[in-house]
Amino acid sequence: MPPPTLSLPAGLQPGVPLTALAPMQDVTDLPFMAVAAHYGAPDYYFTEFFRVHAQSRPEQHILEAIDRNQTGRPVFAQLIGEDVGHLVRTVEALRDHPIAGIDLNLGCPAPKVYRKNVGGGLLREPARVAGILAALRAAVPGLLTVKMRIGFEDTSNFDRLLDLINEHQVDLLSVHGRTVKEMYRSEVHYDWIAHAVARVRCPVLANGNVSSANRAAAVLAATGAAGVMIGRHAIRNPWIFRQCREHFSGRPLTRPTLADVREYIERLFRATHRPGLPDRLHVNKMKKYLNFVGQSVDPAGAFLHDMRRAGSEAELFAVCDRHLLAEPTREFSPEPYPGVIARPNCETPSGDPGECSLEVITS
Ligand SMILES: Cc1cc2nc3c(=O)[nH]c(=O)nc-3n(C[C@H](O)[C@H](O)[C@H](O)COP(=O)(O)O)c2cc1C
Repeated sequence: MPPPTLSLPAGLQPGVPLTALAPMQDVTDLPFMAVAAHYGAPDYYFTEFFRVHAQSRPEQHILEAIDRNQTGRPVFAQLIGEDVGHLVRTVEALRDHPIAGIDLNLGCPAPKVYRKNVGGGLLREPARVAGILAALRAAVPGLLTVKMRIGFEDTSNFDRLLDLINEHQVDLLSVHGRTVKEMYRSEVHYDWIAHAVARVRCPVLANGNVSSANRAAAVLAATGAAGVMIGRHAIRNPWIFRQCREHFSGRPLTRPTLADVREYIERLFRATHRPGLPDRLHVNKMKKYLNFVGQSVDPAGAFLHDMRRAGSEAELFAVCDRHLLAEPTREFSPEPYPGVIARPNCETPSGDPGECSLEVITS
């Protein structure tokens, strides 16, 4: 007996397309969610993935992002795994936590992950996906959502997978418009996202390189999606969700200055501090976020160059002051400056690069 159709939580501004913060391992934790909300929350949050296997228990730090979420916005719990029994057991364990729904990861491209046949690896096996979705649909009392790429090596299974989304009454589908093999850097195939929008009955969030409110509007026009899901560009520019809503409703956009960015960095630094975390490690953690922020500070990448050499909190903030407070009223570029990239050798698959962490994606 199929469950009755459930409605998605209302967005912050009814009548305009939805926005979501993309799940990002090591990023979309409680501190980052709170910082993002300070600058204008997305309509929806998704946790980084809970790993599901025989010995797994929901990770405490991810549970915190759910239990202590004070953003006022709903958070979906993302699972990555392939064993139906353990997935169902995990859904049961999450039932007592204030989640908006359960999201299944069908997209993680890290070889370490897909070799275990989870995440993006499952896109090779629609029959397994069918079994997983059937079990999850039966076990999840509320909303069931899926985040997927358009295929593993190519799009040959895409239609079959989209039909499973319909068959198992998935409530919301996020599509990252790349194959697993395309990792993070190729063009995004918005035409395939449009194809998904036309084929599935549930709302679709378009994901991949939504870099600004302008781009969000263009992607929505190109795909017909119900909303956008934004990852790396929300680390770079946490005002992006507010700017999207402003753009969607024809209002003037918030235009952060370099001084505002200096304040964002300090807020993030304070939010990510943990008792006992050595200064050097904290600074290293900050550099992973700042790799993205630096793309919009100056066209030559001078902030990025100097920031990467900071070894302490004092050095890091001296760099920030030099680059962000010399011309504090200068606009923080809404798009990354061309050629200023988060890291030159970003996620080159040399050997086994591990999972979807910032470590992997920006080192
Ligand atoms: C550091 C990092 C960690 C990620 N972790 C996850 C994850 O846990 N689950 C997931 O479904 N996708 C993960 N992704 C993929 C993003 O959710 C998103 O699909 C991808 O970054 C493309 O969107 P963007 O161009 O807006 O960043 C991760 C991406 C990054 C950059």
